[in-house]
Formats: sequence, C-alpha cells, structure tokens
Amino acid sequence: MPTPPLPRIRLLATGGTIAGVQTGDDARGYRAAALSTEDLVAAVPQLTTLAQLEVERVAAIGSQDMDEATWLKLAARAQAALDTPEIAGVVITHGTDTMEETAYFLNLVLRTEKPVVLVGAMRPATALSADGPINLYNAIAVAAHAATRSRGVLVVANDEIHFAREITKTDTTQVGTFRSGHHGLAGLVNAGRLHLYGPPVRRHTHASEFAPPAVLVAPLPRVDILYAHAGLGRDLFDAAVRAGARGLVIAGVGDGNLSAAALAACAAAARAGVAIVRSSRTGGGIIERNIEIDDDGLGLIAADELNPQKARVLLQLALTRARDVRALQEIFFTY
Ligand code: SIN
Repeated sequence: MPTPPLPRIRLLATGGTIAGVQTGDDARGYRAAALSTEDLVAAVPQLTTLAQLEVERVAAIGSQDMDEATWLKLAARAQAALDTPEIAGVVITHGTDTMEETAYFLNLVLRTEKPVVLVGAMRPATALSADGPINLYNAIAVAAHAATRSRGVLVVANDEIHFAREITKTDTTQVGTFRSGHHGLAGLVNAGRLHLYGPPVRRHTHASEFAPPAVLVAPLPRVDILYAHAGLGRDLFDAAVRAGARGLVIAGVGDGNLSAAALAACAAAARAGVAIVRSSRTGGGIIERNIEIDDDGLGLIAADELNPQKARVLLQLALTRARDVRALQEIFFTY
C-alpha cells in the first residue's frame, strides 16, 4: 500500500530569539529576528520526515514590539491557512517574552479545530545548545498530529506542550522558563513523540464569540495595566483614564488588592464607565469576587485565574462586545 502523504503545515514566522544570531562568537548579546524562515527550517533537516512545510514571514520583530496591527495580521494569515482544506495545522515562530499574550489572543480569535502551535527559543540559533531546533521539531510534530485538534492554541517549549490560557513565562534566561498553573500541561513531547493530557478547561477557538479575526478592527479598545505596590497613590489611575483608557487591569497585591487611594480612583473610574479588572501580581491563584474588596458595590471585575497580561487581552476583546460589568465578569468566567 502506498504511504499516505505527510500533512501540510503552514509555518508563519514573526521573529524572536528562535531566529536570533549572536553578535560575536562568544557574545551573550544577539539580534533577535535576524535569520530567515528558510534558514530556520534548513537548520532542522529532520522536519521533512514530519510534514510538508510551507513557510511565510508575517513579521521579523522581537516580541516586545508585537502590537495590535501585527496580532490582527498574524491572525488573518493563520485563519487563511486554517481555512485551506489541504492544510492540517499552523505553527507560528514567536519571541518568548510576549508569546503567552499572542497565544491567548489567537486562542480567542481563531475559528478552527485544527492545531495551532506557537514556538520560540530562549537561546539564539547560533548559541551553544540552541533550544530552537528541537522546539521547532517538536512543534511541527504536535501540529502534524491529528490528536491535537480541538485543544485550542498550544505552545511548545522545552519538551512541554502548554495551553495558551495556562502558560506564563517565569524566568528571564532559563530554557525551562514556561510554566502552566492550576490546570497543568497539555502534554509532553519527547523527540516528536506526543503524550497528551486533559482537554482545555475554558472556551476557545471554534467556540469563541470573538472569532473569526476578520470581525475585529484595529485599534482595539485601549486597556492599560497598572502595577500595585504598598502605599500606591491614585495619580497613575487618573492619568490612564485621562489618556483614554476604556479599561484598566490592576496587577494587585495578593488577592488583587489595592491601597485605599488607588481603590478610590478605581471606583471613580468604574462610575465613569471604565472597566476595572482586578488581577494579581503574585503569579498564581484565583481572584474571587467580594472577598477583601466589595466588587459588587464598586462595580469591579475579578480576573478569575488570568494574570494581568492575559486579562488585558481578554478585556480588549470583551470591550468590543460588552460594557456592562456583569456581562464582562461573565466573559472572565467563560474564557
Ligand atoms: C523576544 O521575545 O522576541 C525575545 C526573547 C525571546 O524570544 O526569547
């Protein structure tokens, strides 16, 4: 019997350290997004045993510069590939610094059941023990595997498979930087062999009310993140509202808490129609409503399990649909 053709995978490149090149042989410094997508693929000849790859460059940036326009362009290119019947899945190369934000954005706006996998690297392509080649190999293996359908957007790094909603970057330099919180990993991938765990816990991709990306227009509603600390004053809150923020995400202390002055500023902003979401700077845990703060009385929204950067992504999308605090809170309990 003839062997079936390998799955067709579209590889969308955006830059990051995975395409980075050191500035000298023994240099710690490097330029992100310096290698072409073709060079990246050529460095891993084993990819030809996994899939038929089609490469497309969407951007060539460090992920700190990933902005709304690039998100929407990336989402449109990914959706176009996913809507092509012959294409089995999409892999996106991306800088690790804001990968969790792009992954969660795509998890909310792509309408597909096909696998979508983001991949990056902590070490540039020219480094000793570069992690990009094995991460790319594993990412293609994950996207080419039919069992990864209907799991939302995934991130592959350091032999782990993460759900877009759960993953966060926790270390500045180590290759094991990514962690998934309460709901754990989507699976492991060992030299291209997959071990998949439970399905994602919240609504995503084909079931998302924010999909497909074509319904979105830039600019998305402005949402700022404000980082709390002991004795925080109200000036930055008032400044953000004056600058036109339609939403604020608070990286609060502990359980999303705030000083009395900052809380008064939030309450005033909420009365003026600005959506205020309480998240936490702790890096874990759930923000519940009405524990230390009277959310019902003040008109505030609890981020549930989302960290501040992901709460910002969801609030930007939520504000394209709803303004009412109850409806916005329901969205935070759904995605
Ligand atoms: C970036 O996020 O673009 C730079 C850092 C990295 O990719 O690891």
